[in-house]
Amino acid sequence: MSVSSLNGAGAPFVTKIGGRIGALISGITLSPDLDAASIKFIYDAMLEHKVIFFRNQSLTSLQQEELGALFGSLVPHPTVSSASGTKHIFELKARKGRAANTWHADMTFMESFPKASILRCIKPSVYGGSTLWANTATAYSSLPLPLQEFAEKLWAVHTNNEYDHTDLIVERDWEFIQWQANIFAAKVYEAKHPIVHIHPETGEKCLLLGQFVKRLVDFNLPDSRAVLELLQSHVTRPENTLTWHWQAGDIAMWDNRATEHRAIADFDYEERELQRVTLSGGTPVSVSGEHSYQLINGQTNPIWLSDKTGAWTVRDQV
Ligand SMILES: [Fe+2]
Repeated sequence: MSVSSLNGAGAPFVTKIGGRIGALISGITLSPDLDAASIKFIYDAMLEHKVIFFRNQSLTSLQQEELGALFGSLVPHPTVSSASGTKHIFELKARKGRAANTWHADMTFMESFPKASILRCIKPSVYGGSTLWANTATAYSSLPLPLQEFAEKLWAVHTNNEYDHTDLIVERDWEFIQWQANIFAAKVYEAKHPIVHIHPETGEKCLLLGQFVKRLVDFNLPDSRAVLELLQSHVTRPENTLTWHWQAGDIAMWDNRATEHRAIADFDYEERELQRVTLSGGTPVSVSGEHSYQLINGQTNPIWLSDKTGAWTVRDQV
């Protein structure tokens, strides 16, 4: 492909950094002024490699927002306020060694969750604090055929209101528990998604799992846990992942429909600061063509059995 006028940074170059996921893009200086060819080059690289990285970039928060807007409409987090002076910046400031250290895709408790996220490293921790990504398309394609067929029939409820607080309680981190209850889950969102969805741009089948999954529809809790653990183990198998060690000025951009990610909370009480913007995405579609739905009254009236009439799910009512 021809990519011209790349801000004088030379020809763009893609270096694969993992067998199943990840590439480093060099020769591009990210800015709100990227030309159309560069934008397409970057977006295509993201679709192919699922997560791409840029080193030594120098964007402000506002420029990060402007850069993100080149690739689609930005969406703020539904419950957590954006960083001061910005409309869409989600701050990840480590406090007490805390990080998003469970596997997830961003905001899957929404019927339509972000198609992509762009994360900028402002201050890496002195040690530790790396982030892992996993390819959910190869997680699906590497399943045995009978398990693929089984997974394609499954649906799950995702929520922003069911965290395992055990570690926090053990460490007496009451402040963070309060934050999760009073801010992150101040308004409860629940969405029903297929376990296997068709990627709207690549056509790949991808597993849709992660920490926001509450349970499988039509399963009792023990069976739900067992099946989810089985499928999730294929997502997070080491060969299906990569680990990124942050430097200040790094930018990561990932396809949120075809990946899961998690941070490693191994940086003790060191400071760690990153900022993220997310791009609006569509509603997932199952292999049989059914769309995801936002659930109503999920907090007070959870319904775990599917109603074959479809009457229990209503769009956009939370
Ligand atoms: Fe995340």
